[in-house]
Amino acid sequence: PDFATHRNDIAGHPIKDLASKFGTPLYVYDIAVIQQRIADLAAFDVIRYAQKACSNIAILDRMRRKGVVVDAVSVGEIQRAIAAGYTPGGDSHEIVYTADIFDRAALDLVVEHGIAVNCGSPDMISQLGERRPGADVTLRINPGFGHGHSQKTNTGGQQSKHGIWHSQIDECLRRADQHGVTVTGLHMHIGSGTDLEHLSQVCEAMERVAGEVGRTIRSISAGGGLPVPYKSDETYVDLAKYFELWDATRNRLSEKFGHRVQLEIEPGRYLSAESGSLIAEVRSVKKVGDNLFVLLDAGFNDLARPVMYGAYHPISVCAAEGDAADREHVDAIIGGPLCESGDIFTQREGGFVDSRSLPICRVGDFVVIENAGAYGFVMASNYNSKCRPAEVMLEGGEAKLIRQRETFQDLIRGETIPE
Ligand code: LLP
Repeated sequence: PDFATHRNDIAGHPIKDLASKFGTPLYVYDIAVIQQRIADLAAFDVIRYAQKACSNIAILDRMRRKGVVVDAVSVGEIQRAIAAGYTPGGDSHEIVYTADIFDRAALDLVVEHGIAVNCGSPDMISQLGERRPGADVTLRINPGFGHGHSQKTNTGGQQSKHGIWHSQIDECLRRADQHGVTVTGLHMHIGSGTDLEHLSQVCEAMERVAGEVGRTIRSISAGGGLPVPYKSDETYVDLAKYFELWDATRNRLSEKFGHRVQLEIEPGRYLSAESGSLIAEVRSVKKVGDNLFVLLDAGFNDLARPVMYGAYHPISVCAAEGDAADREHVDAIIGGPLCESGDIFTQREGGFVDSRSLPICRVGDFVVIENAGAYGFVMASNYNSKCRPAEVMLEGGEAKLIRQRETFQDLIRGETIPE
């Protein structure tokens, strides 16, 4: 984003028009931004989108059309990928199931379609091997350390439940042998919102573990984790440097094994975060003691990242009348409609409420919460019996509805009152 605190349009679409046509709260995704992010990663052999970040089937379809394959962590994500036109099974590995367990339904579905599996526990190797003897698998390795933007998104080290512990490769290979399973790839994802500092350590660990597995390795995956700037003083990772380190690792392995090892990357946030905005309407502006609260029709049921991680999102104001650029700035706390004090978009990890200097708001103005395209809608809930918002994609100058706003009927679907 440009970190401006006022905005009248998103990719040329007036915010007022989007709000009046589709209602608020509303998620809007600019497809051009996603396409740019895909292009940024062209040096990698395979871009595998971690669809958990934003899994609307229209978004998945557009990823597919750009040659991006997908990661799936559940039955629902496998089915979404299929609904978006991805081919399950086969050698192209368009869908890979990556998890630390198989629930029974996931194991059934993976076996039924012959979907590729990235095993995050030794048990997964045995469970797949029993049902699909002779399978090829990749292993997700926990290298013994991790890093994320929050402790909750750090996925390495012994506090983390993720992956196969780096010193248990022998046991995994024994288990694989029992079922004729071949380990053809390795994967490491040490956390979401990670940094470059840990990268050389990850690459070293990858090389060492690949050496232990041996020549059956045909691909390595750098996992996800690429950060995007949420604050004006944050920066992107130097992608050229990131690729260079992984490429060098891959090249050494290719040489060692005598065949070209494929290099994958598995981003979620990097591809979708900056494409997405959450538009909400200001419904109350009130003083509480010394504080000024601006309350929106969107809450943590719509965007959970602030309450969950103390995550910071850029926020801008679109005035209903006139231009917010002409308004005086005031310190305001931006909150939602829910029955909890944590329903605040301007907070830090630990639940500390912050205020933000923004153009003074009036009821009826719009507020845009930016960089909300990753882990936004997908983490939305029906708490307080709120209907989840609509989703719209901006593409070729048009605003297209890709998910209807939920209705009361959606809320009570499946509920019954026994006699
Ligand atoms: N691969 C694996 C195995 C993952 O577990 C994840 C994210 C990714 C790739 C994609 O990571 P990314 O490129 O998006 O950083 N809800 C949190 C983030 C949770 C990430 C979970 N796993 C948030 O809102 O920050």
